[in-house]
Amino acid sequence: MCGIIGYVGEKDCVSILLNGLKRLEYRGYDSSGIAVLNKEDNRNEISMVKRVGNLKKLEKALSKKEMKGSLGIGHTRWATHGKPHRLNAHPHLDCKNEILLVHNGIIENWGPLKNELISRGHKFISETDTEVLVHLVEDYYNGDLVKAVRKALSKVEGSYAIVVMSKKSPNQLVGARQDSPLVVGLGNGENYLASDIPAVLEHTNKFLIIEQGEIANITKDKVEIYDRNEKLVNKSPFETNWDISSAEKEGYEDFMLKEIMEQSIAVRETYRSHVYKYKISLDESNLPIDIIKNIKKIFIVACGTSLHAGYVVKGVVERFARIPVDVEIASEFRYKDPIIPNPSLVIAISQSGETIDTIAAIREAKRKNAWILTISNVMESSAVRESDGAVYTFAGPEIGVAASKTHTAQIMICYLLSLYLAKVRGEITSAETAYYLNILKEVPSKIKSVLDNHSKIKELANIYYKFPDFIFIGRKYGFPAVMEGALKLKEISYIHAEAYPAGEMKHGPIALVGENCPVVAIADDSSVYNKILGNISEVKARNAPVVALTTIGNEKIKNLVDHVIEVPKIPEEFSAIINVVPLQLFAYEIAKKLGCNVDQPRNLAKTVTVE
Ligand code: M6R
Repeated sequence: MCGIIGYVGEKDCVSILLNGLKRLEYRGYDSSGIAVLNKEDNRNEISMVKRVGNLKKLEKALSKKEMKGSLGIGHTRWATHGKPHRLNAHPHLDCKNEILLVHNGIIENWGPLKNELISRGHKFISETDTEVLVHLVEDYYNGDLVKAVRKALSKVEGSYAIVVMSKKSPNQLVGARQDSPLVVGLGNGENYLASDIPAVLEHTNKFLIIEQGEIANITKDKVEIYDRNEKLVNKSPFETNWDISSAEKEGYEDFMLKEIMEQSIAVRETYRSHVYKYKISLDESNLPIDIIKNIKKIFIVACGTSLHAGYVVKGVVERFARIPVDVEIASEFRYKDPIIPNPSLVIAISQSGETIDTIAAIREAKRKNAWILTISNVMESSAVRESDGAVYTFAGPEIGVAASKTHTAQIMICYLLSLYLAKVRGEITSAETAYYLNILKEVPSKIKSVLDNHSKIKELANIYYKFPDFIFIGRKYGFPAVMEGALKLKEISYIHAEAYPAGEMKHGPIALVGENCPVVAIADDSSVYNKILGNISEVKARNAPVVALTTIGNEKIKNLVDHVIEVPKIPEEFSAIINVVPLQLFAYEIAKKLGCNVDQPRNLAKTVTVE
């Protein structure tokens, strides 16, 4: 996830772009850049500054440089393809240094396009997927920037919001969007393009939303929007009454809710950046094929929510790749003198990549000659740098302390990794891989349908918020999701919650159950459905109020339990990524009902860098 902005008007726009990027910094902050076109005395001169690091670095560089222009674009980056580096920072330029482009999204077919463009003589300087776009526009530019952008975009697959400017069209910006947001801010004698409203809210409260597949052609006093069929679209602007702080949350009450709601996008971007034409590419993992083929054991090291993703890895890697997996609490790992057979793969999972317990576990595993792969949401994080390879989730920055979208993105990576290992080890065929990838491709829309059910989950929370204790139960693939559901409830609502594999209840925890201790049970369509029904009957017999998470269409279970949360059907191996979402919403709504600060729960920090 990145932030993009563009300005066309008469003012000197460097500070407008910089301030806009500051409002967009929550979308990414590993590098940034601004380019402007100075039209004074017809000189048509482009100046550009890019810096690695947060916007303070860019601001400092700009303060030292004479830079003027009334047409300009800016970008704040969350690295996806290519590490945070000045060459990978946007804006990107064509070969003639005349066309400039900023992009948010992922171009899935950038590899073949890049090869094709290189064979036609284009020179690339970055490792990004984005750079192909600007070279494509260059190829098609024939005096009409809109046409060139349209043609370029017809060649690409993936997601994008882009803003393009050209030295040769000095009074114009072109923007386009597919699966990444883009708005037009309407000013007086000036207009803006931006990833979201807050970026330009201090200049205007009048906006147009660019819809899927649309292209916007913008000058200082004109905005034209074209649909996919090149037809002019007539849109009425709307006025927003947001203030800046609510706008950063895009109208949501908290970052956590916004991030929960962003999950279908986070999961889709993570899938898209690793899958192209039914092939899983984990190139950045550097995982040697001979290691994959000979691994004796996999160890997962992680903490908190990332640890729960580790339990998902265990389930699917053992199922598909048939490699034994141990899930290890990172803070314990280095003290137990772990026995690591050779060759072993240690997978560290950390959204931040800075959790000290996980980094210490990586060091211990390294000392014992394991091959280390880190799954992280942050490129160039410490865990990544200390590992032999990395695979990234593309969830964008997560601000709420309680993990949500980074977790579902981690689960998507777990699924892809397990299929990849299984394929390389010959446990599944190409056809089977394609079959499973087709299922995973549908996950974002299934998550969206769960999110659309938000109001029903809120109603449930309004009933259950009064209980002091909760027990969450699940079996097999259902267990990681209940662990995460219980953690979410604890950390943001301060209600005591425990998760148990349902069959374990009778060995002790069932003693806690009664009318004051509700049970949340995962009872979706699965090979253990009848078993979990038995476990639900046991707690019902002890008067526990029961909320069952069940597959849409299961009417029968409604006679057994007090309330149901319905989830879409998906094969059981891939159910965790769906089932965890309503549990996040349930915890969120209970916490809100209790008046808790969900973004900054007491005693917690987003990144735990102390032991
Ligand atoms: O950045 P990491 O994934 O390494 O963080 C691990 C845990 O600290 C984190 O998941 C924590 O449990 C969150 N509060 C969960 O919401």
